[in-house]
This record gives sequence, C-alpha cells and structure tokens, in this order.
Amino acid sequence: MGDVKKVADLIKEKGYVVAFTGAGISADSGIPTFRGSQGLWEKYDPMEYAHIRAFNSNPEKVWMMLREMSQVILDASPSPAHYALSELEKKGFLKAVITQNVDGLHYVAGNTKVIEYHGNHRWLVCLSCSKRVPLTRDIITVLPYPRCEKCNNVLKPDVVFFGEGIPMLEMIRANEEANKCNVLFVIGTSGVVYPAAEIPYIVKSRGAAIVEINTTPTPFTSSITDYYFEGTASDILPKILEHL
Ligand code: OAD
Repeated sequence: MGDVKKVADLIKEKGYVVAFTGAGISADSGIPTFRGSQGLWEKYDPMEYAHIRAFNSNPEKVWMMLREMSQVILDASPSPAHYALSELEKKGFLKAVITQNVDGLHYVAGNTKVIEYHGNHRWLVCLSCSKRVPLTRDIITVLPYPRCEKCNNVLKPDVVFFGEGIPMLEMIRANEEANKCNVLFVIGTSGVVYPAAEIPYIVKSRGAAIVEINTTPTPFTSSITDYYFEGTASDILPKILEHL
C-alpha cells in the first residue's frame, strides 16, 4: 500500500498534477463499471450495443441500453473522489482531468479543465445535421428512440462508440497535458482500452511519477506505477488531500 503522506509531499514538490480517470471513480457514485462481474459488458455485449455499426443498423435496440444508462447518469451525483479532485484543482495542484468517463461528473463536482476523451453522454447529437441537444429525462422516454427536432433523424449520445475515432481536439489536449505533467494520477481504470491507455505510458516515458488508485492491480501496476494504492478512489483520494 502506498504512503499517502509521501504522495502529498511529491505533489507539493512537483506541482503540475494531471488525473487520468476511468469508470472506477464513478463506481462510488453508483454507476456500474464496464468490466468485471457486475460490469455493463456482462449484461450487454459491446459489439451488439456499443459498436457504431450496431447503432446504425438497429438504433431501437441500442437505445434500450442507452435509456437505462442515461437514467443512471441523470440520477448520479459526484462521489467523494470527484470532489477530492475538484479540491485538488482549487488548491492549484491539479491542472487537468483526462477522463474516459462519459457521465460528466467531474464538471458537476467543479473541475474546470476536463478532457472528455470518450465524449459526454449528457449531450445527444444528430447523426445527420450534427445538432446537439442536452440529455433530459423527457427526451429518453421517446420511443422507439429520440429524434432530431430539425431533421427527424436518430439522436445518439455524444460519446465515442467502438468503431469511432477519438474527437481530435480532445486527443490533442490530452497529449498536451501528458507532455506537461510531473505527476499523473491513474484512477479506476482497467487500462485496456486504447488509445486512451497509452496516456500513462507517454507520461512515464518523460520520467514523471505515476500514482495509481484501483481496487485491483492493472497492466500499469507492475510496469509503470510508482505509487500504488489498493482501495476505492473515494477512500484514498480524500486521505491524500488531508496532507495538502
Ligand atoms: P473498466 O470497467 O474497464 O475498469 C474499471 C476499473 O475500475 C477496474 O480496474 C476496477 O478494478 C476499478 N474500480 C472499480 N471500483 C473502483 C473504485 N471504487 N475505486 C477505484 N477503482 C475502482 O472501465 P474503464 O477502464 O474506464 O469506452 O474502461 C475504459 C473504456 O472501456 C470506457 O471508457 C468505455 C469502455 O468500453 C467507451 O465507451 C468508448
């Protein structure tokens, strides 16, 4: 188990901290992770529900899963871990959050520089005219799926499906931060989805420190992690903050 005081001292000494987050940080907000026995991909085969080809060929079926996910996101509030990252930004240490999550909870918690690598489920986008509308409780009740008010085409959450590229601007901003930070927090991600999972390796190759928080070890843990904390993000992050 890592030493919280040591990591707090490292943050004070090095200054420029970035957090790279995954579904584990939102598990504490009641949003299921993707992998693992309780994960979303146990219930829904991602090739049938999260691939862009599946969405295009059968939006009605995919929207059954999206409706459930939308409800969970709209009901969720930030966890103590989200708030700890917001506090870390207010104290001037945390310069950016790069998140793979699409729930928008880092913004809700008060972080201002959030790079949403896989998009944001709180917005819907029209695949024909690109009009964006906010996700609301009403819109998700529309059957068989929500449509664009302008051109009547199907709306899709503004998130990256399998088979789609990462938004260019987010990729550029994430790489910029990976090339600037001195300390990278890697929080609640299994580290198996690329290109996002490249980010900690880029950071490590520059000699910056990797601090990882996860309930189970990941491919990063034995290869590039300098300080590993086994436990929930909501338990560990506030403890580090206490020393800052
Ligand atoms: P995963 O579901 O793959 O991994 C979640 C990680 O969080 C695991 O390593 C868990 O051990 C850990 N974990 C669970 N509860 C935790 C807690 N309370 N505190 C800390 N860690 C905890 O989620 P991601 O790595 O985020 O992509 O998945 C990456 C991408 O795969 C997602 O962005 C999504 C998915 O397919 C797209 O939708 C494009």
